[in-house]
Amino acid sequence: MRNIVILISGSGSNMAAIAQVAEREQWSANLDARVCAVISNRPQAKGLQTAHAMELPTHVVDHQAFADHPAPRTAFDHTLMQAIDAHQPTLVVLAGFMRILTPAFVAHYAGRLINIHPSLLPAFPGLNTHQRAIDAGCRFAGATVHEVTADLDHGPILAQAVVPVLPGDDAHSLGKRVLAQEHLIYPKAIADWLRHITVNP
Ligand code: GAR
Repeated sequence: MRNIVILISGSGSNMAAIAQVAEREQWSANLDARVCAVISNRPQAKGLQTAHAMELPTHVVDHQAFADHPAPRTAFDHTLMQAIDAHQPTLVVLAGFMRILTPAFVAHYAGRLINIHPSLLPAFPGLNTHQRAIDAGCRFAGATVHEVTADLDHGPILAQAVVPVLPGDDAHSLGKRVLAQEHLIYPKAIADWLRHITVNP
């Protein structure tokens, strides 16, 4: 069985969408894959409760616990890698995981680490994507699923969804429209990725 580990920081709605599709489309029987754990860097992340309610194992690796460490980012990533590797994952899915990862972390999961970003990459990497799209006068916005490389919010694109920016949109209304699409494209991109590596291991 191929294990998928999902990393979250907040509400975990993409995580829930992925886990629901995995259940509905019987990934364990059809793709030999399952969501085996949800890991959060924030103990208060709402997504942990959602995962718990869905009977998914959860872990917390609290980044704040490393604040006094001489190399906090490296120490956090090292502990996070240990928590992930305990599940021997085929795929690590970043789903609203709001931490910048060290090059060592990205290298360790090269080829099996994917992310969703709330913009049409390569436009608007980084934060506040919806407000920036509105401020730039974009007529369209969207979301991108991509492989993670050392370059933040770059890496080969696996899927995108486009939504219109409507007159009167603010970051909240646009973000809601984009998020609804994220919930459709992320599970599908993961299923496609799993099929692809079944055919071309
Ligand atoms: C999503 O919109 C995701 O694209 C974004 O955070 C949100 C998480 O929502 N990710 C990033 O901005 C990463 N750079 P969720 O916790 O409800 O899935």
